[in-house]
Amino acid sequence: MKINLYFYTRIRILFNMSNVREILRKQSFSKEDLLILLNADDKETELIFKKAADVKAKYVGNITYFRGLIELSNICSKNCLYCGIRRENRLIKRYNATDEEVINAAKYALTRNWGSVVLQSGERNDKEFIERIEKLIKSICSLSKTKPGITLSLGEQPEETYKKWYDAGAQRYLLRIESSNKELFDKIHPNDKFHNYDYRLESLRNIKKIGYMTGTGVMVGLPFQTLEDLADDLLFMQEFDIDMCGMGPYIEHEDTPLYKYKDLLLPIEKRYELTLKMIALLRIIMKDINIASVTALQAIKPTGREEAIKIGANVIMPNITPVKYHESYNLYKGKPQIAPETDNYIKDLEKNIQNAGDDVGYGLRGDSLHFLKKNKN
Ligand code: 5AD
Ligand code: SF4
Repeated sequence: MKINLYFYTRIRILFNMSNVREILRKQSFSKEDLLILLNADDKETELIFKKAADVKAKYVGNITYFRGLIELSNICSKNCLYCGIRRENRLIKRYNATDEEVINAAKYALTRNWGSVVLQSGERNDKEFIERIEKLIKSICSLSKTKPGITLSLGEQPEETYKKWYDAGAQRYLLRIESSNKELFDKIHPNDKFHNYDYRLESLRNIKKIGYMTGTGVMVGLPFQTLEDLADDLLFMQEFDIDMCGMGPYIEHEDTPLYKYKDLLLPIEKRYELTLKMIALLRIIMKDINIASVTALQAIKPTGREEAIKIGANVIMPNITPVKYHESYNLYKGKPQIAPETDNYIKDLEKNIQNAGDDVGYGLRGDSLHFLKKNKN
């Protein structure tokens, strides 16, 4: 009996391995294929990682682009059930960095030849905010003779606002769908007209229509989320034909309503591993897009971002927000413990990136090749 069980296990492992190997040879993956890959054990996952690393080297090259991340304000009009800076969290100090602080941060990135910055903040739709962002985009553009890359991550906005910011000089927009499963999206957001899956989708379509390089992403390891949801998320990104992606592990925050489901969560290391697997699979199915290795990976493991670089990601966003604001941009647990990205820290990061097999793309904007190819004509 013991021997039979042993052989049974061996055969199962060999069968699955060849299954994974066979699937990885295909040109395109079905949902069932993706489910098998998402279910892969550690040994099989090595095959997936190897394939993703090869695809990365072949299609986007072994270059990691730095984008200076400026978290300009934690004031948010939304109330997402998972997020530490949601409107109803009264336990955090709200801040709004000054224009001077934002411009100085942008100068820091551009004088170090990073080529691009990301403006991120809580969501606001008021006139003052919209005009301020427009002004900041123009000022950042004027900092450099060659047009710097400017990515916006400022949430859902009316189409004319997206257009205004695009005309001011921003070329990239990141708006996460959070989950492509409408039912799950509804579970992790308040049930009101300000948190609406269809509006999120419409916003993403508007971003694309206006001409932005369009980025989206999901959280991995949410309560109620299944592997099937994650397979659908990958197919959603492929079908939407995104140009960039930023996805990261869900990390529970005790001052948010979703925290009550903490017992339903996978252990944090598993969420971390699953995120790496999602990044690798996305690289394999969308070969030439830009994929960010996000801060939430670093919050779980100090070198988490570099590990994602090895298996498919090609963008890192060092946080260049003035340090005094860091502890207040606390979307999830563990974020305040992240070391400030000082010059020395960046030197170490660069070394780690080189150890992971990449060079840093200094002096390059690092536009999404996927976008450039689509828009060649
Ligand atoms: N864990 C991980 N990511 C989070 N975000 C917000 N809250 C959390 C959390 N608790 C992510 C969302 C959002 C981005 C700005 O931060 O995906 O789109
Ligand atoms: Fe605001 Fe974004 Fe957090 Fe939602 S996820 S509460 S929109 S900062």
